[in-house]
Amino acid sequence: MIDQYAVFGNPVAHSQSPFIHACFARQQQQSMHYVATQIDPESFAQQVDAFLQGQGKGLNITVPFKELAWQLAEVKTPRAALAGAVNTLWRDEQGRICGDNTDGLGLINDLTQNLGCSLKGASVLLLGAGGAVRGVIQPLLEAGCSELIIANRTPEKAQQLVQHFAETAGAAVTLHACGYSEIPAKAYDVIINGTSASLQGDLPPLPEAIVGAHSLCYDMMYSATQTPFCHWASRQGAARAVDGLGMLVEQAAEAFFRWRERRPDTAPVIAMLRQSLA
Ligand code: ATR
Repeated sequence: MIDQYAVFGNPVAHSQSPFIHACFARQQQQSMHYVATQIDPESFAQQVDAFLQGQGKGLNITVPFKELAWQLAEVKTPRAALAGAVNTLWRDEQGRICGDNTDGLGLINDLTQNLGCSLKGASVLLLGAGGAVRGVIQPLLEAGCSELIIANRTPEKAQQLVQHFAETAGAAVTLHACGYSEIPAKAYDVIINGTSASLQGDLPPLPEAIVGAHSLCYDMMYSATQTPFCHWASRQGAARAVDGLGMLVEQAAEAFFRWRERRPDTAPVIAMLRQSLA
């Protein structure tokens, strides 16, 4: 019987994960089958258990179940434990449900490997303080940034994140929370939009001074046309404004590696996906 994989979410019809994993499987000559399954919130835990008891070898978890998946996972990777959210599940040899969060590493891999951005010693401005941002903080700190400013519409939420991650950040990193109007006025090396404002065609009210000619601006969201944040960043004269399509493929590659112990070549898959969106 062929190994079964799935992404569980609600809604999930728009998910690109089946396409991405089918590309990886073909490329790596792996015999596996991957589908998107819409799950009712009441039956999430039971469906995860049933899937991983049967032919199901691994699951990706998307909105709105990442926190629930975190609760379900009996064993968590350190980064998933800290993130409070899980996007990848599998069962270990003892039958325990294991969870990882590959979102942050997906972002780091896209920034450093695909875009050639060095995060060592970089000043990073992170916009937003929701679930998406929570998953990328630890990997950004581990990547060696010297300064991480978390700005959010509701500054208290950013403050809570700073408190949560302060211990792991260590003394070498400046970790600071604020509202958008209090963002320290200077040009940042990297600005990452982790808010869901783009979903509403909106943009946080950002000071102009934060973008310099050397700034890389990155939107964790992606779309067929330029996202509002990327459009804004380009108009401010950013060196580059990039959306999160690469992050999507890279987080999938990390999940694939967890399950199959093979590292797919992501570049052709990103190119194919970009073409299919156009
Ligand atoms: P996700 O899991 O996508 O991160 P979330 O946990 O609901 O979703 O978080 C959404 C983030 O986008 C939050 O940082 C939210 O700001 P608040 O914490 O102040 O609510 C931010 N956000 C959503 N819509 C926004 C908008 N129109 N302008 C600015 N920030 C917005």
